[in-house]
Parts: sequence; C-alpha cells; structure tokens
Amino acid sequence: MNMNKNHAVNREWWDEVTPVHEASDFYDVAGFLDGRNTLGTIERQAVGDVAGRKLLHLQCHFGLDTLSWARLGADVVGVDFSPAALATAERLAEECCLESRARFIEADVTTAGRLAGAPFDIVFTSIGVLVWISDLDGWAATIDANLADDGFFYFLDGHPLALIFDESSPIPVVHYDYFQGTTPIHEPAGSPDYADPSYRIRSQSRSFTWSISAVFSALENRGLQIHEVCEYPFTAWPQFPDMKRGDDGYWHRTTDVPPMPLLLGFKARRQRIPGAG
Ligand SMILES: C[S@@+](CC[C@H](N)C(=O)[O-])C[C@H]1O[C@@H](n2cnc3c(N)ncnc32)[C@H](O)[C@@H]1O
Repeated sequence: MNMNKNHAVNREWWDEVTPVHEASDFYDVAGFLDGRNTLGTIERQAVGDVAGRKLLHLQCHFGLDTLSWARLGADVVGVDFSPAALATAERLAEECCLESRARFIEADVTTAGRLAGAPFDIVFTSIGVLVWISDLDGWAATIDANLADDGFFYFLDGHPLALIFDESSPIPVVHYDYFQGTTPIHEPAGSPDYADPSYRIRSQSRSFTWSISAVFSALENRGLQIHEVCEYPFTAWPQFPDMKRGDDGYWHRTTDVPPMPLLLGFKARRQRIPGAG
C-alpha cells in the first residue's frame, strides 16, 4: 500500500492495540454481539434513516460502528489501514450474519481514491479520526472521489479547540499548538492505551492537530460546502480526568470550568451551481 512514513508508524500502533481494544470494557464487544448499537444519538440523528442507503465508513477500526449502521439497514463499506482491525471486523460481521451488507477494504484514507462500490450516498467518519491524518488534502480527495452528487459527508470528532489541552489536567491547560498542521506530535512507546490504560503500548505513534479552518478549507477546495455545524460541551470518551459518563452515554466535565466545545459535528455536500439544473 502507498503510505507516508507517519502513517506507516501509526499502522503498527493500531495493529498492536486492536486485540487490546477487542478485549476491553471500553468497546464492550460482548454487548455489541448481544445487539447493542454502538452509534451515539448525535450521529444517528444527524445521519438519519440509512435503510437501503450506501454508506462508506472511513477509519472504521474493527467495525463496531460500521456493523451498527448495517444493523440499521445500510449497505456499508468500512475502510481502515490496519489489517488487524479489518480481520476482526470481518470476523464480527460473520458472527452477526451481516457479511451480505458489510464489506471492509484495507486502504489509507488519504490515498484510497475511488473505491469499489462508489459512489456512496453517505460518507461517514467519527470519533478519534483526524488526529491520525497527516494530509488533509488527500483525506478530502478520498471523500470527494467516493461521494454521490446528491449525497453528504458526515463528520463527528473531537473539537479541534479541545484537542489543544493537556489530557492529564482537570483544568484546561494549553499543551498543543492549534496551528501545528503537518508537523507530527511524536508519542513515545510506553503510553497507556485509551481503551485499557493498564496496557502500555510498545509502538510509537504520530498525531496531528488541525484547525477548523484547515478542515473546512480542505473540503471546500474539493467543491464541498459545509452545513449543519454543531458544537457540543461533552464528548464520547473520558478525555479529561474529571469527566463522568452521563445517562446520555456522553462524558461530561465535573470541575467548575466554563463549558467549552468538546465535539464538533458537521455535514458537507457538493455545491450547487445556480442554473446548473
Ligand atoms: C479511534 S479509531 C476511530 C473509529 C471509531 N470511532 C472507534 O473508536 O472505533 C481510529 C481508526 O483510524 C484508523 N486510521 C488511522 N489513520 C488512518 C489512515 N491514514 N488511513 C486509514 N485508517 C487510518 C486506525 O487504524 C483506527 O482503526
């Protein structure tokens, strides 16, 4: 596979952590096999009814959300660059008898090009995705190459502003450069895994911060227009040490700091040229 060196480092990291994630309480695979839908209310409401629609899931990890869309009636294709994640996703699809509605493709989302099954009515990506991407233009090109003319792209991830704060501090302390862009942040070997902090990861990783304007511009440069921008003061994982999970399934701050945006959601659609029919 054609892959830049930062992504190649990250792929080893993801291959290592996938079995740890599959065994973790965080991902609760047993609950999923019992019928739990792993999608949050935010993305389910924003994406709407998917029955009979073709959905491309970028950075699908080991497929829980992808298969949850398939359970809701979508014909799904999950894309990820981790062979370990995709092998697990395919095994889970078989266990849930969803193989006829769910396929998985190994590809880097910044170089994937037009995939088998394109165009898709919905291109979807969520939670923990952009920090791994070193090339926003390549990422936007993949979305553009696979999106149907009347389809939409849906994005939900950590808010770029929230990702500049030190994750180990219960009060906001700026730690990362909001404008860092293509320069990678080097994470050394030995860091705790987010899904099972008792596991120390042997591999290194490279991550990236992207400003909101960089994300929107990458899509706009491909002729996509941004719609339905939403910001949420809670998140989908325990990002800071003071967070507690609410009855809504999302993680909320408990320290007395003014609310700040923690998740960012939006859609993008092809621009309609007036008079073009
Ligand atoms: C945190 S998961 C996101 C999925 C989902 N929200 C979850 O928690 O299961 C991030 C995924 O992105 C994948 N990934 C990272 N960089 C990628 C790239 N350049 N191309 C394709 N997949 C990539 C990793 O293999 C991993 O499965």
